[in-house]
Amino acid sequence: MNHRVQLVPHNITFEVNEGETILEAALNNNISFPNRCQVGACAACLCRKLKGEVSYHLEPMLTENEQARGWLFACQAYPTTDLTLTFDE
Ligand code: FES
Repeated sequence: MNHRVQLVPHNITFEVNEGETILEAALNNNISFPNRCQVGACAACLCRKLKGEVSYHLEPMLTENEQARGWLFACQAYPTTDLTLTFDE
């Protein structure tokens, strides 16, 4: 099932297809989403979810506190619901 991702405050939205990470979907939609390694090591793609849920094949290197605050690795995260994301703290 596809999920819709909204980036705030710029109000950019894109669809994530089944089996795509958030980062893959953004790049496939020509959105300049920050990234470097694309394997969950550099943290360039780090962003924070304001709404929605994600799952991982490999758990990211985030503390419980960071996860609780919504931080996620866009290159590793698969949406399981529609999402609202921000790059702000
Ligand atoms: S692009 Fe390096 S951690 Fe996601």
